[in-house]
Amino acid sequence: MERDEQYGEELFAHGRRGEAARLAALAAALDDSTFRWLERLPVRPNWRCLDIGTGTGTVAAWLSRRCPDGRVVATDRDTALLPPAAERGWETLEHDVTVDGFPDGSFDLIHVRWVLSHLRDREAVLARIVRWLAPGGWVLIQDLDRFPIASSPHPVYRKVSEAMCDAVEARIGTDTSWARTFPAPLRRAGLIDLDTEAFVAPTGATAMGRFWLGSADQLRGDLLEQFAVTEPELRYMHEQMVNPSYRDFALASVAAWGRRPER
Ligand SMILES: C[S@@+](CC[C@H](N)C(=O)[O-])C[C@H]1O[C@@H](n2cnc3c(N)ncnc32)[C@H](O)[C@@H]1O
Repeated sequence: MERDEQYGEELFAHGRRGEAARLAALAAALDDSTFRWLERLPVRPNWRCLDIGTGTGTVAAWLSRRCPDGRVVATDRDTALLPPAAERGWETLEHDVTVDGFPDGSFDLIHVRWVLSHLRDREAVLARIVRWLAPGGWVLIQDLDRFPIASSPHPVYRKVSEAMCDAVEARIGTDTSWARTFPAPLRRAGLIDLDTEAFVAPTGATAMGRFWLGSADQLRGDLLEQFAVTEPELRYMHEQMVNPSYRDFALASVAAWGRRPER
């Protein structure tokens, strides 16, 4: 039987042309919102922190500045896009969150951004992650959701953006509507003191626009062959994502946070 394609095997592989720039643009679009959410948690300088699916490592870098007396571990299935070891103030581990583990109770804070929605067994993985938390430890999860696209006032942009979400779902099994259900998955995983909030970065000639265009470029073949997108429609996307007077929204970043009970 043919195995289902996973994130990073081909689509969004770190070695693909443009992928480093696409993930750098994502971090530039989202980091400020992530740091604001992290600041709401009672983070202490001696906390042991884990950033799962760290990508370019910008959140791990922030955590290592915020927790100088603790420990920061950044994991990814592919660590190729991280800065050189000498420039990092944190530990790095090649680690597949669907199969590799940590001892129970290893961390005071676990952060995971735009990773779990891409995994077919996302809620089982979340349940494992929660076990790696010390009693009283916090999880901050953020994931993408397509809900802002349906109300776009630009029909071609809306059509291509919806097709991009459908194409990623079909290709690697991403659930582009899972995050809209937050914080329920955290409740099911046994966490308490839950809350949720969303941030929507604008597209156009912006960091999120660069990310969205980079995603469209990687999905180009799927969009043209399977999702009835045309070459002129893709050209329109290219023009608008460098047009300083164009603004729309693409994926929302939905955050949820919660704490493992003390006992
Ligand atoms: C969309 S990127 C997000 C990167 C980073 N968290 C951020 O928000 O800037 C998804 C990341 O998850 C990683 N990833 C995907 N599947 C994974 C897995 N099974 N285990 C660990 N990391 C994984 C990818 O390699 C990639 O770096």
